[in-house]
Amino acid sequence: MISRVDATPNGFQLSEFIQGYWRLAEWKMSPAQRLDFLKQHLELGITSVDHADIYGNYSCEQLFGEVLALEPALRQQMEIVTKCDIKLLSDKYPQRTVKHYDTSEAHIVASVENSLKNLGTDYLDLLLIHRPDPLMNADEVADAFAQLKKSGKVRHFGVSNFTPYQFDLLQSRLDFSLVTNQVEVSPVNMFALHDGTLDQMQMKRIRPMIWSALGGGKIFTAETEQAQRLRTVLSNISEELGGAGLDQVIYAWLLKLPCQPLPIIGSGNIERVRSAVAAKELSLTREHWFQIWQASKGHEVA
Ligand SMILES: NC(=O)c1ccc[n+]([C@@H]2O[C@H](COP(=O)([O-])OP(=O)(O)OC[C@H]3O[C@@H](n4cnc5c(N)ncnc54)[C@H](OP(=O)(O)O)[C@@H]3O)[C@@H](O)[C@H]2O)c1
Repeated sequence: MISRVDATPNGFQLSEFIQGYWRLAEWKMSPAQRLDFLKQHLELGITSVDHADIYGNYSCEQLFGEVLALEPALRQQMEIVTKCDIKLLSDKYPQRTVKHYDTSEAHIVASVENSLKNLGTDYLDLLLIHRPDPLMNADEVADAFAQLKKSGKVRHFGVSNFTPYQFDLLQSRLDFSLVTNQVEVSPVNMFALHDGTLDQMQMKRIRPMIWSALGGGKIFTAETEQAQRLRTVLSNISEELGGAGLDQVIYAWLLKLPCQPLPIIGSGNIERVRSAVAAKELSLTREHWFQIWQASKGHEVA
């Protein structure tokens, strides 16, 4: 069982692991199965759920909303996170000529209205700007956020995939704190460990949300040299730890980071979700941690 933790010094709370709903449409679950899955992860203490307007070609929020409609009381037990600003080329928007980002005030507000409708709720706990937009005017985003906060439609705000400069730029225009930067980190993607992103989160005592912690599953299946090196090292550590799952060793590797990240679980298989949560009990040594780092890079540290 896990619990809610302060995601920021201002007391906003998320669960220690978050359930990702990016792949919800692929799970091909009936509404009853979706409800069952949701209740089971809530029982494990995973109360925070991660969405985006675009997931499943703009369908996942609605699939989730159907479940909330079956048991509306569940809404109060969870923190709903969703995102905006990516505009996909989609049959739903036939007039678009190119995939692009849109952080205009009008789009942010319209996107939130749409997410609220699809999810069947009257507020979001957390809204993230999904990808940094080169045309982002931070004053305009701040106006959109202020409007959404004032109306009670969004309680907290954050970003995703932002560099520290982009994070600071947006923060400089706000009179409240951004509560997270949701970034990709895994043994196959370690950029955020080395480009200042996670250092900034530790400095601000803000917990980053981590996406694709298992490399989207590729660590277990890819035939690249890197994936093979990683599987060997993960298996050795797993044996030393008495037979932990390779997924659990990866989560334990992430949880050792001093910025205290909140991993987002991507699986729709409740046994895999249980396995992820149990990784909290594992403790890796520094040497284990760097064995995984070295297997990822293919060379030792300098
Ligand atoms: N902010 C962003 O830009 C961004 C981008 C991507 C994702 N996200 C968020 O992050 C969440 C997680 O991303 P992700 O889905 O790529 O995460 P992930 O945990 O790295 O990958 C999950 C995938 O790996 C598969 N898998 C294979 N073996 C597994 C094992 N032993 N344990 C667990 N999963 C295994 C899962 O399949 P099964 O379902 O069959 O178990 C699933 O398809 C998403 O749902 C979304 O909410 C955010």
